[in-house]
Amino acid sequence: MPEADLIKAPIERPADTVIEEGKTVGVPFSDDPKFQLRNVEVFYGETRAIKNISLDIARNEVIAFIGPSGCGKSTFLRCLNRMNDSIENCRIKGSLLLDGQDIYDPKRDVVELRARVGMVFQKPNPFPKSIYDNVAYGPRIHGLANRKSDLDDIVENSLRKAGLWNEVKDRLDAMATGMSGGQQQRLCIARAIAVSPEVVLMDEPCSALDPIATARIEELIAELSESYTIVIVTHSMQQAARVSNRTAYFHLGHLVEVNDTSKVFTMPEHELTESYITGRFG
Ligand SMILES: Nc1ncnc2c1ncn2[C@@H]1O[C@H](COP(=O)(O)OP(=O)(O)OP(=O)(O)O)[C@@H](O)[C@H]1O
Ligand SMILES: [Mg+2]
Repeated sequence: MPEADLIKAPIERPADTVIEEGKTVGVPFSDDPKFQLRNVEVFYGETRAIKNISLDIARNEVIAFIGPSGCGKSTFLRCLNRMNDSIENCRIKGSLLLDGQDIYDPKRDVVELRARVGMVFQKPNPFPKSIYDNVAYGPRIHGLANRKSDLDDIVENSLRKAGLWNEVKDRLDAMATGMSGGQQQRLCIARAIAVSPEVVLMDEPCSALDPIATARIEELIAELSESYTIVIVTHSMQQAARVSNRTAYFHLGHLVEVNDTSKVFTMPEHELTESYITGRFG
């Protein structure tokens, strides 16, 4: 082959190993969306960390975000309740709607948004306060309880839902920071649900926990999924398979594939998804 032809010839490889920007394979949209996210881009300074992602998150689904480290899972998750606002050089483009309303409307009350869209972080971060005061914190600042007995009820119900009540009911005045890691994480979940959110975002909530505490949190996710929309970032494909209805595979800031979890893990459409879930990289 003459050299000139060689240079012009496209590199031959199967079409689906190439990421086409903005083209997500599978089923990224929903008939009953809680979030409608369109052409979302996130920049840190000049660096584009999220590249033209469009996705619906359905009401009351559990969706797992997976993908190699640095692919943008946390960045995209934080867009959903404006947690990126506090990062100085971070800019967001595109349309992000929650129940049809613009999340980034300058008139939006961000405190109210974060009460509706709660977050649980990788490392449990209880306040240096009592167990009771941690859970009561949100309801107090949002004025959700007028009487002490109402607040007591919210605290008890939240701790029950988080599967922690029996372990702590006799020591609600004890410092939260003295609890085990798994208990602290369940306390953070209780704190997030105490304000009756509609959505709970979880960024690797089990990565610091032992298998027993992890199993407890996974049971909890299953229970919560009856009434909440849950978005969970995880590095554990077993965990994604166990807890989620749908799985989204991210790669270098792109959303490569979204589909029913069982489909993603048994018959991925995209070569990159397959490479990741079969452990060829990541
Ligand atoms: N505060 C920040 N300032 C500048 N760049 C950032 C910041 N946070 C993340 N990034 C960059 O954005 C890209 C996506 O990072 P992100 O933390 O969202 O990835 P991730 O998929 O959550 O990774 P991991 O699995 O390791 O948590 C990376 O290239 C990262 O270096
Ligand atoms: Mg992350």
